[in-house]
Amino acid sequence: MSTPLRRLYVSASAITANVERLRELAPARDTMVVVKANGYGHGAELSARAALAGGATWIGVADIDEALFLRTAGIDAPILAWLHAVDDDFGSAVRASVAIGVSTLNQLERVAAVGGASVHLKVDTGLGRNGMGRSGLAEFIERAVDAHHRGDLRIDGLMSHVSGASREADLGQAERFVHAQELLAAHGVTPTHLHLAASAAALDHPSLRFTMVRFGVAAFGLAPTPEHSDLGLTPAMRFEASVINIKRLQPGDGVSYNLRWVASTETTVALVSAGYADGVPRAATGRAQVEIRGKRYPVVGTIAMDQFVVDVGDDVVTEGDAVGLWGDPQGGTPSVADWAEWADTITYDIATGIGSRVARFEQS
Ligand SMILES: Cc1ncc(COP(=O)(O)O)c(C=O)c1O
Repeated sequence: MSTPLRRLYVSASAITANVERLRELAPARDTMVVVKANGYGHGAELSARAALAGGATWIGVADIDEALFLRTAGIDAPILAWLHAVDDDFGSAVRASVAIGVSTLNQLERVAAVGGASVHLKVDTGLGRNGMGRSGLAEFIERAVDAHHRGDLRIDGLMSHVSGASREADLGQAERFVHAQELLAAHGVTPTHLHLAASAAALDHPSLRFTMVRFGVAAFGLAPTPEHSDLGLTPAMRFEASVINIKRLQPGDGVSYNLRWVASTETTVALVSAGYADGVPRAATGRAQVEIRGKRYPVVGTIAMDQFVVDVGDDVVTEGDAVGLWGDPQGGTPSVADWAEWADTITYDIATGIGSRVARFEQS
């Protein structure tokens, strides 16, 4: 079999070890691992299985379809889905025992109409995104409680999500979260699951862990912010391509679209078989580096759709050499965080951007 031009190696054991480590660093009664967006690019099923092996007790996804995919794959752990279309089929979620995060009155009505749903009420405590906002909260809770007491649904959880803007902002959101909890309690409802914190908040603020923390990016060994880069986690993803053409350039020879890079001395350049269609961020043009034979080299010229060029100077490289784009920096390869910095974005954006034609391999 020929070597695929672009290869993603995913380590299930790294995810398992990361979840074990995170449970030590941020203990809570329950640990949810979030595997939305194809497990942050790592593969949803692989990620869910690895997370459960590491002690996760819940799996989180955005879409009901993502949850149903996991059920079909045989994942029978508790799953929560919290982002819905106006006409999403809640019946399919209930039949598959998928808990539903409910953010709007419309969702509440439609979920109640199905009957038998396990619901986590999602309240917006200040992030200003999904979840019931402050102005509608009292009515939302009253209607949810009515449906709960009628037996049309079960309020099993209360959830929110913080902004990470500052410590004060996150703690302020926690106060509003507790207020929502008190409103429910005043109506005689005490949800089993109370959850507010994702990776950064769970690690930074013990008081925000409530009964469950939700780890996404950190479970994959990636830092939620540059301040979280030293947690003893292992990156679970390694992205490789190959050297497929080698040229000796003379001073004045240019490289790639718009000839943004021109050789100033005689040098050797190597063409690499991955581009922005595969998730190599074009915005990292002019800053990125890759690893070949254990050594770092600069990417030169504009990153194109399928390929980019590396200046290897006078070093010897061979067609077919593996090129490490990102992975575990301990092996000399740049990290996902390096690429995030070069592309002026965040680790999440790099990991979830892997294109569909990249061949995937599971490592133990
Ligand atoms: C509601 C919710 N919880 C948890 C997460 C996981 O966040 P992180 O990857 O920062 O841990 C996300 C991801 O955006 C989310 O939307």
